[in-house]
Amino acid sequence: MSKVTVVGAGNVGATVANVLAHRDFLKEVVLLDIMGDVARGKALDSWQQAPIDYYSTSLTGTENYEDTAGSDVVVITAGLPRKPGMSRDDLISTNAKIVTSVTSSILEHSKNPIIIVVSNPLDVMTYAAHQKSGLSHRRVFGMAGILDTARYRAFLATALDVSPKDIQAILMGGHGDTMVPLPRFTTVSGIPVTDLIGAEELDAIVERTKTGGGELVKLMGTSAWYAPGAAAAQMVETIIKDENRIFPCCVKLDGEYGMKDVFLGVPVKLGRNGIEEVIELKLTEEEMTLLETSEGHVRQVMDVFDGMQL
Ligand code: NAI
Ligand code: 2OP
Repeated sequence: MSKVTVVGAGNVGATVANVLAHRDFLKEVVLLDIMGDVARGKALDSWQQAPIDYYSTSLTGTENYEDTAGSDVVVITAGLPRKPGMSRDDLISTNAKIVTSVTSSILEHSKNPIIIVVSNPLDVMTYAAHQKSGLSHRRVFGMAGILDTARYRAFLATALDVSPKDIQAILMGGHGDTMVPLPRFTTVSGIPVTDLIGAEELDAIVERTKTGGGELVKLMGTSAWYAPGAAAAQMVETIIKDENRIFPCCVKLDGEYGMKDVFLGVPVKLGRNGIEEVIELKLTEEEMTLLETSEGHVRQVMDVFDGMQL
């Protein structure tokens, strides 16, 4: 039975812990926050939900990294979320310091964990955690693509009046407005989506997906948590159960797609060892140009992080 730590007991972190507990496949979830009492309170509240919703996964809230010892997977959600008017990149100065210090503290107590980064700006915080950890790039990666794809699938389900369960899709690039939804790889129970929806309506959905995070920030004054939390939990489940499911995740590219030493969302096979394989799709020239634009944007923010010398 496995142990998972979630760092940051805010909106996203508490949701990850609660969803994981509901899935009932882990021995223990540790929820760690600098606000230890908030972490303790949310862990206790989730545990008191167990008799109602029938799960046995124990939950521990803490501010003490000793409680995270021997974690198989660590999900990092610590850091500031966006406020209206902010881009994800505006968060780098605070969140880079938080993510690097959290990564160091985790590794003092867990030797070779898999680390899933959620904090924004996502691609660059994944880079930061990977650099600080010294772990294999197959064990440190970021959650964004599952969320962005879920938004795209949800918008399509509404437009087509079908169940979101039947929509399969893939999306690439950075977690920002330069992300690259791929209608060519979108199907509804195997039927190409382009057979079911007009080009104009599909374009509008693609554009709405790209700014889907910002839409929620405008509505709520802070960023989303239900879908992001569920997305990170889905990655944990796939890893612990060694399912080899294929999802878009933010990974360090090592020559795939002709790109090296950049963290970008691409389809991967996720299993017990983390990234078991990066899947290389044959992209059209137009899709490749969009991916390169996204790469350029992420590299600029990676340079900002390098300049911080953390
Ligand atoms: P939140 O403000 O609700 O929670 C953040 C938590 O981090 C707070 O409880 C805070 O006390 C804690 N924290 C701050 N510094 C810490 C440290 N050094 N050690 C431990 N805990 C620390 O924010 P929310 O909504 O949970 O978002 C968390 C992060 O996730 C943000 O950066 C947000 O932008 C990002 N995010 C990323 C998504 C993605 O798709 N990758 C989706 C949604 C949010
Ligand atoms: C989101 O996409 C803010 O990255 C966060 O909801």
